Amino acid sequence: MAKARIAPSILSADFSNLSRDIGLVEDAGAEFIHVDVMDGHFVPNLTIGIPVIKSLRKITSLTLDVHLMISNPDAMVSSYIDAGADIITVQYEASCHLHRTLDEIRKNGVKAARAINPHAPVHLLEEVAPYCDMILIMSVNPGFGGQAFIDSSLEKIRKARRLLNSCNPRGLIEVDGGIKIDNIAEVADAGADILVAGSAVFGGEDPASEFRRMDSVLLKQAGL
Ligand code: DX5
Ligand code: ZN
Repeated sequence: MAKARIAPSILSADFSNLSRDIGLVEDAGAEFIHVDVMDGHFVPNLTIGIPVIKSLRKITSLTLDVHLMISNPDAMVSSYIDAGADIITVQYEASCHLHRTLDEIRKNGVKAARAINPHAPVHLLEEVAPYCDMILIMSVNPGFGGQAFIDSSLEKIRKARRLLNSCNPRGLIEVDGGIKIDNIAEVADAGADILVAGSAVFGGEDPASEFRRMDSVLLKQAGL
């Protein structure tokens, strides 16, 4: 199987040292930086937004994977495009005009993704799956790092993979929440291409070695 990749989430990094922490995982081989944008409305937590993403754009060439957990993302995506996002993920539950929003993201040369919360069935993805570069399966309820992986997500990943195979085989699946060294192989085996890992990477003393330890599991799984 193709090797899955880890997207370290800076939600669990040191917000006063983002540049240093991103540098650590970049040196360890990360290709993505997952940026969790929360507005205190769609989710009960508040994190970072456009000005910080603009600053991150200046200090890293890694793929900025921007996960919008905000109300009314349709009105805001153009600002995140301008800020320098490479991937923009919109929550299904927050968007009234998802088709148009995905279209706007892609027309601007940015990859568009759609996320579904743990309660949402995969069939809700059917109509827009052909227009998504990526589908994000939330494997925790959004809002906080360090939560436990919801086991029923594994079946949702398998269903999402079957859906994409039928209408958009190049589409990627990202899984977000509760990914640790103990379950990373199982989640990748279910069909995940990109695995978000926040507390597992940045929660310990040595993010670079945690990243490498988890990545080595994926390398082995891919026979590399
Ligand atoms: C949760 C966020 C995640 C979070 C994952 O709402 O979307 O990206 O950073 O954190 P961990 O890996 O600690 O579950
Ligand atoms: Zn996220």
